[in-house]
Amino acid sequence: MKKHYPEWLKKAVFYQIYPASFYDSNGDGIGDLNGITQKLAYVKSLNCNAIWLSPCFASPFKDGGYDVSDFYQVAPRYGNNEDLKNLFEQAHKLGIKVILDLVAGHSSIECNWFKEASKVEKNHYTNYYIWGNSADAPQYRYINGMTDKEESFMINYYYCQAALNYGFCPPDPKAPWQLPCDHVDVIALREEIKNVMKFYLDMGCDGFRVDMASSLIRGANAAQGIKDLWQYYRNFLNEYNPEAVLVSEWSHPAKAIEAGFHVDFMVFFNLPGYSSLLRGEPYRVTWSEFTFEHSFFDQDGLGDAELFCQDLITQLTSVDGKGFVSVPTGNHDTGRIAQNRDTQDMKILYSMLLLLPGVPFIYYGDEIGQDYVYNLPTKEGGYKRTGSRTPMQWDSTLNAGFSNADPKDLYLPIMPNSDRPTVANEEENPDSLLNFTRKLLALRNANEALDSEGKFKLLYVEKNQYPLVFERFTANQRFVVAVNPANRECECQIACPNWDLFKQILGDKLVKALDIYGAIKIIMPPKSYAIYSYNGIID
Ligand code: NOJ
Ligand code: CA
Repeated sequence: MKKHYPEWLKKAVFYQIYPASFYDSNGDGIGDLNGITQKLAYVKSLNCNAIWLSPCFASPFKDGGYDVSDFYQVAPRYGNNEDLKNLFEQAHKLGIKVILDLVAGHSSIECNWFKEASKVEKNHYTNYYIWGNSADAPQYRYINGMTDKEESFMINYYYCQAALNYGFCPPDPKAPWQLPCDHVDVIALREEIKNVMKFYLDMGCDGFRVDMASSLIRGANAAQGIKDLWQYYRNFLNEYNPEAVLVSEWSHPAKAIEAGFHVDFMVFFNLPGYSSLLRGEPYRVTWSEFTFEHSFFDQDGLGDAELFCQDLITQLTSVDGKGFVSVPTGNHDTGRIAQNRDTQDMKILYSMLLLLPGVPFIYYGDEIGQDYVYNLPTKEGGYKRTGSRTPMQWDSTLNAGFSNADPKDLYLPIMPNSDRPTVANEEENPDSLLNFTRKLLALRNANEALDSEGKFKLLYVEKNQYPLVFERFTANQRFVVAVNPANRECECQIACPNWDLFKQILGDKLVKALDIYGAIKIIMPPKSYAIYSYNGIID
């Protein structure tokens, strides 16, 4: 049977890079594309084989580059289009795929398309944007008084991010400025964005993470319109480059995969599980409709994993065979996963997160436990998110090895704590989080049961209880992963046939497993994890 997704996703492990903060190759204080190219061997050493690059396009950077002013041009501060092409080529030589961020929902008001569209006289670009009137539709946000046009333009996020016009499904008859999705001007925008995709695919890119993928079309029947839109782009990709992938910022995999995406993140909106698992109140950085005082992976042991597991099972069931769920370590919009957590906490957490089905995404620095930097003034529209975007900590030289610029010229300051983790320190320590991450990913890569497609079964999860135990398996290979983030001993019983054939391959030796009336009783010490396998290979 033909797969619904490119084969490489089965073994894909992504690393997300925020270009300004990864590595500065020319000493101007800002990370750049050549810097990323120089660090590809490091990405490879993590056992990652794909990169998601946050926006690297020309932009006034009022929202970290999610305000694109030229969709066909690399931002000069990051290099030029040749550098991007070279990054693709060098990455491919190492077996690393690179996907770009497609900011499909809006452009900067400094984009030429918008400048043309702002002219009073109608032209090719006028209806690339949505010129409306808040009196007709108060649920949308508009900016008044910025252009000479009578109407106002709709925005998606900040004032400077003018919404691109994919049409209304259906248009409201009382608001004639709402164009239908098949209006010739709307189709012209659709084609323009397709050309943007083609442009980068031709350059060597391997696909896109699509910003705000679920909200490009408005109207009472928006869901159908959005599905039609992404089906259209997906059909195009299937023809044009069937190896290219589409990853969505939707946070509802069932809907996103149905609409044509290959992978969708489960993050802090739409579904409550992610926040309850990883990001209780102290770690909340972005807006979310869900708040939890505690999260499961906290040592206070007051969290809950059941809510997340319910979300996960529902989503996995509905995308099975068609696409993948991704539960990322974090991203440029979230807090840092290492906030308030020590190395052991992180090992426990990664034993689950990096061995889940679907496609893992690691936010740069999370592999060394890079922390959130508190109390930073906002930078480029980051606001509270700024503290999760500070430079990568490479070593103990000037600027943590990120740049040789004068520290006052850095894009953002380095984490000030002198005991901050660095790649160099962790390289030397066999028990570091960095080496643990590598080990887990090597294990994942070497075993079919642990890859994106391997099956998943919960062996123990109960509301507000610890530990959590799950199984990954194929027909002839099984892994059991048990995690107890709580700082107290916890026990549970699991039904696991042929337990005596399993051997422990990673984790805390003190975990006991006893056979009681056909069930296995697991007693886990405070803050512990254990990985068992039957027929698994450890690399
Ligand atoms: C989601 C992006 O991840 C975020 O950083 C950005 O601010 C908004 N979309 C608007 O593009
Ligand atoms: Ca630079």
